[in-house]
Amino acid sequence: SAAEKGGYDYFMLKEIAEQPKAVADTLLGRIDPAGSLTLDEVRIPAGALREVEKVVVVACGTAFHAGLIAKYAIEHWTRIPCEVELASEFRYRDPILDARTLVIAISQSGETMDTLMALRHAREQGAKVLAVCNTNGSTIPRESDAVLYTHAGPEVAVASTKAFLTQLVACYLVALYLGQVRGTKWGDEIRAVVRDLADISGAVERVLETMEPVRELARSLADKNTVLFLGRHVGYPVALEGALKLKELAYMHAEGFAAGELKHGPIALIEEDVPVVVVVPSPRGRSVLHDKIVSNIQEIRARGARTIVIAEEGDETVVPYADHLIRIPATPTLLQPLVATVPLQVFACELATARGNEVDQPRNLAKSVTVE
Ligand code: G6P
Repeated sequence: SAAEKGGYDYFMLKEIAEQPKAVADTLLGRIDPAGSLTLDEVRIPAGALREVEKVVVVACGTAFHAGLIAKYAIEHWTRIPCEVELASEFRYRDPILDARTLVIAISQSGETMDTLMALRHAREQGAKVLAVCNTNGSTIPRESDAVLYTHAGPEVAVASTKAFLTQLVACYLVALYLGQVRGTKWGDEIRAVVRDLADISGAVERVLETMEPVRELARSLADKNTVLFLGRHVGYPVALEGALKLKELAYMHAEGFAAGELKHGPIALIEEDVPVVVVVPSPRGRSVLHDKIVSNIQEIRARGARTIVIAEEGDETVVPYADHLIRIPATPTLLQPLVATVPLQVFACELATARGNEVDQPRNLAKSVTVE
């Protein structure tokens, strides 16, 4: 009913709007102002966490993209090698697991069969499993050694939005917590990032306030056949997520690419007026990545692409090459996906509406896939 949708036309719009709160709720009580983490609810003893030699993330769909981003944070902040694998592939390749492997199973519903089978396999091999889950008491957390709940509240729309942002937050918390428990040399950086995380809810709010031009742009592209997405570093999984949203909702051909791979194939797809969304890393921090992506934008634009550039406020270098510019607040590099994903959700939702599609219940898809 309209009341359930809180006055919005679709659950998806309501859930997109709820993201600042979902992010804040997922942080609530877990970080303190001094920059340390309290995650006692992760009932894996600190001693066991100190002995972890490898982290393996398993998930499906949008949760898998959260896992791809988690890898960057986990490896950077903890120096523990991290693999990310689609749950449906994981157990069939005889993965190497033992008591020093921490498996993180990410799932909004907690009922996805492939993810459940992957975690069962991991536990049979002696690995410890930590669930990152949005649904209290669901099967995946019940069968795991520990759980860190995301506090997104119920997500109804099939295409995941607020659950994704909170999965990212939870993964950052796990990564930072591992760093804290293990006392890595990134101690000061960890405290700084914890403080930056506390500001993210406000940054997401600011993105939401500036989405009208994105909706307009989406409507203008309703008759396109293809949209491409490019990103690098954590922007690469963001590109994959942007493409997935568009497939799910707009039923358009959409593909995400690592920007560095452009010359190894995808650039052949660039022709006159193809929309290409580019997620630009911050010019601060790893500025070499920023400069490389700016030259990618130049390359594709020279070949006729219509460039839709998502870039940090104040980044003026992209302006001459952007046919459409979408601004996001400045954040530390690793946290950028929390703000960069939001315009892509709005974009896909609006395109779906413009194409007359059912936003909350896309054809052929289910909210939770409980069969293999
Ligand atoms: C389905 C949903 C996706 C979701 C995926 C994983 O495909 O349509 O939105 O990302 O399942 O679901 P989970 O509940 O495990 O996060």
